[in-house]
Amino acid sequence: MKLLAHILCLCLALSLSWADHHEPGQGHGSSKHPDHGHDHDHAHDHDHAHGHDHAHGGPDRCRGIEMDAATVNEEGIPYFFKGDYIFKGFHGKAELANKTFAELDDHHHLGHVDAAFLMHYEDEPTHHDRIFFFLDNHVFSYYKHKLEVGYPKLISEVFPKIPDHLDAAVECPNPECDEDSVIFFKGNDIYHYNVKTKEVTEKEFKNMPNCTSAFRFMEHYYCFHGHSFSKFDPKTGEVHGKYPKEARDYFMRCSKFSEDSDHVERERCSRVHLDAITSDDAGNIYAFRSHHFLRKDANDTLTVDTIESDFKELHSEVDAVFSYDGHLHMIKDNQVYVYKTGEPHTLVAGYPKSVKEDLGLDGPITAAFVCEDHHIAHVLKGHDIYDVELKVTPRAATNKRPVSVFKKIDAAMCGPGGVKVIVGNHFYHFASTMAFVASKALPEEHKVSLELFGCDH
Ligand SMILES: *[C@@H]1O[C@H](CO)[C@@H](O)[C@H](O)[C@H]1NC(C)=O
Ligand SMILES: *[C@@H]1O[C@H](CO)[C@@H](O)[C@H](O)[C@H]1NC(C)=O
Ligand SMILES: *[C@@H]1O[C@H](CO)[C@@H](O)[C@H](O)[C@H]1NC(C)=O
Repeated sequence: MKLLAHILCLCLALSLSWADHHEPGQGHGSSKHPDHGHDHDHAHDHDHAHGHDHAHGGPDRCRGIEMDAATVNEEGIPYFFKGDYIFKGFHGKAELANKTFAELDDHHHLGHVDAAFLMHYEDEPTHHDRIFFFLDNHVFSYYKHKLEVGYPKLISEVFPKIPDHLDAAVECPNPECDEDSVIFFKGNDIYHYNVKTKEVTEKEFKNMPNCTSAFRFMEHYYCFHGHSFSKFDPKTGEVHGKYPKEARDYFMRCSKFSEDSDHVERERCSRVHLDAITSDDAGNIYAFRSHHFLRKDANDTLTVDTIESDFKELHSEVDAVFSYDGHLHMIKDNQVYVYKTGEPHTLVAGYPKSVKEDLGLDGPITAAFVCEDHHIAHVLKGHDIYDVELKVTPRAATNKRPVSVFKKIDAAMCGPGGVKVIVGNHFYHFASTMAFVASKALPEEHKVSLELFGCDH
């Protein structure tokens, strides 16, 4: 019954974007996450079960903590605040907030941030792309991570009629709100602040819990309370669907999830980046994230399992995967593991081998993919792409070219429809490897959770 519900739901969601994604025999691809400092920390990952990281001093978000404030920065990277600490992105360790926002301390004993939001209104050049922080009765405005001259100011001066000691704040541009607005939360009082006219409308969000932080992400609105969250309609405060949900399941990358976590629901809807993705000759897609992988069959059935259960030798956290000739080639750190595509996935004798021996270049690898029935693995490493002719031994990585269109890449796959490149929770489509490498401008962005896995919320 549960499985059926997933299938129905997926079909509905996919009908929106059917042509683009239902490509039987779709690609052979892969990837990982390279140069993102806080990102790929195997050692720390195993520590999560032990909770607080004393050596480092910061809180551990995988233990289920209530955040004080949340916002995205001007590049769309999420920032979560807890006490003196900031968490950047959806995983990694806590850092001292004053390392990034130094002056928060000079003017005020930091301790905690009440609320934060990103003002992103191009019509408001004096406030555009500012991150505002609220501490007690003061507001701080940061532009490119520097405190603006004249700040901190009193909240009553900058946002008249908005109370002190806020709980949460979130930006709400037109048309998601009727006017370009900021929504402020204090207890169960809700204030819609019109950025242009400075008018304030008080609202009642009847079905919403009191938010301790609020967050706009991919045009959706989330109210966090405890370590749960509810998605809400910013105009009315209505909550549709089954909420609250566990924040760790969607907005954090943790090695362990609660017993009652719905693995399929979580993995298809998670906003956390993928490590690697590929599809086999039969058109089954395999997507890897941390300790789990999600398989989408050619008939669109989704299943989720731990990497450990199917690819025991790999354990978790792959860097790149491509499929070729009935096998999944999985790369982790400096090793390549080759598994048979069919179940059970058995490791081919002689593997793991070093990346150097198997592909002719040194690991770690960012992503790798093979297009249709070609015999070339396209291997991304840092900002370069190499070709590895798979029918030739010993293998050599040749034809090194820079990839300039992305600052970082998480995963990539290829199929008859072309190359899909995954960055964070978005993917980008290119007609061919050549088009991808030559590209100077980002093509249209697509949502991974919605358009690849049919998560509609
Ligand atoms: C940053 O905050 C920590 C903890 O509150 C404090 O010990 C440290 O001195 C601060 N650093 C700066 C540069 O203000
Ligand atoms: C929400 O905030 C109001 C104050 O505005 C308070 O009276 C109420 O108890 C709070 N509700 C919860 C569940 O904490
Ligand atoms: C989809 O295909 C898989 C095998 O690839 C099979 O196990 C499953 O039963 C199929 N589901 C449906 C609904 O046809």
